[in-house]
Amino acid sequence: MCGIVGYIGDKQAAPLLLEALKKLEYRGYDSSGIALVHEGALKVAKAQGRLQVLCERTGDGGSMPGRIGIGHTRWATHGEPNDTNSHPHLSQSGRVALVHNGIIENYMELREFLTKRGYSFATDTDTEIAVQLMDYCYHGDPVHAVREAVNMLTGSFALGILFQDFPDQLLAVRKDSPLVIGLGEGENFIASDIPALLAHTRDILRLSEYELAVIRKDGVAVFDRYGTQQAKQPEHVDWDAGAAEKGGYAHFMLKEIMEQPAVIRDTVRPRIKEGRIELGLLHITPEDIKNADRIYIVACGSAAHVGHIARLYIERMTRLPVCVELASEFRYCNPLVTSRTLTIAISQSGETLDTLFALREAKARGSKTISIVNVVGSTIAAASEDVIYTWAGLEIAVATTKAYSAQLAVCYLLSLYMGQCRGIVSAAETAEALEQIQALPAQIERQLAESQSIQYLASLYFGCKDIFFIGRNLDYAMALEGSLKLKEISYIHSEAYAAGELKHGTISLIEPGTLVVALCTYAPLRDKMISNIREVKARGATVLAITEEGMEQVQETADHVMWLPKAPELVTPSLAIIPLQLFAYYVALLKGCDIDKPRNLAKSVTVE
Ligand code: AGP
Repeated sequence: MCGIVGYIGDKQAAPLLLEALKKLEYRGYDSSGIALVHEGALKVAKAQGRLQVLCERTGDGGSMPGRIGIGHTRWATHGEPNDTNSHPHLSQSGRVALVHNGIIENYMELREFLTKRGYSFATDTDTEIAVQLMDYCYHGDPVHAVREAVNMLTGSFALGILFQDFPDQLLAVRKDSPLVIGLGEGENFIASDIPALLAHTRDILRLSEYELAVIRKDGVAVFDRYGTQQAKQPEHVDWDAGAAEKGGYAHFMLKEIMEQPAVIRDTVRPRIKEGRIELGLLHITPEDIKNADRIYIVACGSAAHVGHIARLYIERMTRLPVCVELASEFRYCNPLVTSRTLTIAISQSGETLDTLFALREAKARGSKTISIVNVVGSTIAAASEDVIYTWAGLEIAVATTKAYSAQLAVCYLLSLYMGQCRGIVSAAETAEALEQIQALPAQIERQLAESQSIQYLASLYFGCKDIFFIGRNLDYAMALEGSLKLKEISYIHSEAYAAGELKHGTISLIEPGTLVVALCTYAPLRDKMISNIREVKARGATVLAITEEGMEQVQETADHVMWLPKAPELVTPSLAIIPLQLFAYYVALLKGCDIDKPRNLAKSVTVE
């Protein structure tokens, strides 16, 4: 996730901006920059790589005079990480500088609009469109320019803006991406996240949707999108720096679980244009997808579990055989790959060596390759012909949650897109499915608001020694992820099992008190799941079922139920994962485990 900072006051701004950016380094970034207004001129310094590079380039800010400025750490989404693409971006007139968090969805359309009006572009970022648009709308009144430009943007944005002609005011505006104002004595600040402010002030104003702030050193005025001034109540933050980095949550994992609605929104929305799916595939054509005769999905861990769900959808929508292979196995199983094979590599980090080697093996055998990756410019992204990025931002907790959900959302879109290419999924089916996918963030928000019941269930079972997760079809794929989430952070032994397979041996392990988590969301097989619940209960198991509201029969059979909102089958995996993530989190919390950094684990496994 990118970081934004800004300052206006009587001190030299640059050193303060760099210090504030250091407090945001934990959010992950690949470049950084600052811009200042001094003696009627806008000056910008930026650098790819660690913040230290920028500090060295500016003498820790000492070589950049000016008492008003903005700064940014960039997590690349559009445009590779490099000096040019890093923020702040300057308009071609040199009159406006801007830093941005979020994704401008209509940037291509605006690029065309501005090109026709004489603008040219130095970068391939969506952010540069915003600063050029501000410049286009600027006719001497910066507030008017910002308001007019913002009303032309679609997507998510938090913006810090400087106008060369107005060194006495810093402008800030937000939609979907957070932005706060720090209130000082004779000085004021902006930041995308509270840790950047704590060295100077604990009194903040949180901007609401579309609110535009005009920040002077001796006061702040906030306006709504129609220009009406808003009376904002300052808030006093008493978090310590550690808690502030976690957004006030106890762990990064919980913060990232809570970020999932926004992450799905950011990942999906820019890829749906007037009912069409636009994945930005540059090399793999609809013809390639039409001519494909087999698909492999290669991944590890949770990414492989996404693959199991994707397989069911892709097979259903393309009628192509899909094989999900653990990357570490794929390389050594002499896979049936030809030039008509399409291989999909899924990886949050984009650096998992097993997955990279599997991808290379598939390419070497002639396969076309697509990767679904969260880190822009990572090795797996660079090694595949096409890449579809999950815009989940930096995921800090070792146990993946928001990236997993973003991968799921991309797989829904990819399955539909491939089904369309092969003439199997109609435009009407696509339109219906896209509506369901776009409704997902709000449904998850409602689920996350009711997590107390999961906390209670965790309090009943955190002492268990063995837990089984069972399911059929989609629910079995979900059981795989539920089991991994639990064991990797709570250290409780757990197994995911195809419910229909239990009776072929493993059921001998079920004894009085064994906890079985039964996933019963897949309607066509719910009755069979109810039989499987009875089967394990007959041997003394305690059953915690996950099913959708209204399934009384499941409630009558199981000991406890984690309810899901009624939803179309397509998106149910994205809803079912929420209680599984929360259950694992609260069990681990009660066991006092190191939730963000579980023993023996690394966030990215770059060894074989
Ligand atoms: C998931 O919670 C684990 N941290 C692990 O299984 C992870 O999914 C796996 O190592 C793959 O990582 P990747 O997505 O970065 O390739």
